[in-house]
Amino acid sequence: MERTLAIIKPDGVSNGLIGEIIKRIENEGIKIVGMKMLHLDRFKAEGFYYVHRSKPFFNSLIDYMTSGPIVVMVLQAPDVINRWRKLMGATDPKQAEPGTIRAEMGLNIERNVVHGSDSKDSAMYEINYFFKGTELVD
Ligand code: RTP
Ligand code: MG
Repeated sequence: MERTLAIIKPDGVSNGLIGEIIKRIENEGIKIVGMKMLHLDRFKAEGFYYVHRSKPFFNSLIDYMTSGPIVVMVLQAPDVINRWRKLMGATDPKQAEPGTIRAEMGLNIERNVVHGSDSKDSAMYEINYFFKGTELVD
């Protein structure tokens, strides 16, 4: 059993896509074991995207991620890190496989609706960044 962190980003929340995205997760047989709605401040968003701090898009990414509320979730299933990234599709909605969340709902390479951890190490860091152990169910 594996866990990953999923985020419905500000464009997903403001465009009314929370239900559609959760439906796709549940239809895959993936369990949601933690969930909350937050509005990140810059400090919290910068800490989350620490690995991207020297990228040219960093400031714009922080502006975007602090622009409105988000939904953070912990997903649990076998191989869920890869499975959730498959459901999301490639970073750039134009390159994403047809049928994926980003292909169907993403606006551009930055405003791409959802986030997913990219490795076991990042999943552990990202889950602990938003959730205490007591906030997760099993
Ligand atoms: P994520 O971390 O959000 O799941 O996305 P990802 O792995 O597919 O992409 P990553 O390279 O980790 O980038 C993190 C987020 O930064 C924004 N981005 N903007 N303007 C750009 O060229 C650019 N590239 C990335 C996106 O919001 C991306 O999801
Ligand atoms: Mg990433």
